Amino acid sequence: MKGVILAGGTGSRLYPWTRVNNKGLACVYSPTGNFPQLHYPLQTLINSGITEILITSSRDHCGDIIEFYGDGSEYGCELTYRIQEMDRPVTGIAQALKLAEPFVGRDKFAVILGDNYFEDTFKSEVEKFAKDKKNDCYLFLKEVHDPERFGVAVINNRGKITEIEEKPKEPKSELAVTGLYFYTNSVFDLTRELKPSKRNELEITDVNNFYVQNDICKGKILEGHWQDAGTCESARDIINFLWEKK
Ligand code: G1P
Repeated sequence: MKGVILAGGTGSRLYPWTRVNNKGLACVYSPTGNFPQLHYPLQTLINSGITEILITSSRDHCGDIIEFYGDGSEYGCELTYRIQEMDRPVTGIAQALKLAEPFVGRDKFAVILGDNYFEDTFKSEVEKFAKDKKNDCYLFLKEVHDPERFGVAVINNRGKITEIEEKPKEPKSELAVTGLYFYTNSVFDLTRELKPSKRNELEITDVNNFYVQNDICKGKILEGHWQDAGTCESARDIINFLWEKK
């Protein structure tokens, strides 16, 4: 299986620092080394057995990421890069995902957001998905106290996801859809059909809802710590977690 890290985005919630810096290269001060944020999703993929990885980022920051990671051999992976132009009328995670099509080809792949920290690794899920003939999508859920910041999943009493809402004002559950998604290459046909949302983005939640509605999506609730670094508070929480874990 291949891996894709989406590290575009303007990092507007971390302004003004992100005016000239990529959020993915923000330093996560940790007792085991001062690595950029991007290092954590990269390690999640590598520790899950995925070493052929594409990183997408914006024109102004891709150079810095390349300078830091090079071909990836220092970290035991093989890296490819693609530029995500940020001046396009439609943006969004599903829009960025389109850039991965030539890299992915006919393979199955994992997509991970560049600002997501996972304590868990996903080796057995990667192996299961590689063999899975029924499901075209695996999602990973985590109980959170502020679900309105995320895609929120509703599950039935058999643990099946029945619906996902993107940043609902009144969340129907506390289960956030984390920024790790496993897909078959069917996702590229879907992204071509997708219509922009009210905020003019191609939403990953619309992609995921297609799989949910067609009963070809499997969800798993995570045990370990999960956090995105979208806000200053959550970026700080990741650092705190790493120090407490020591
Ligand atoms: C995105 C997705 C959301 C998901 C979150 C995980 O939100 O749209 O569904 O729960 O990532 O980090 P964003 O971080 O772009 O606000």
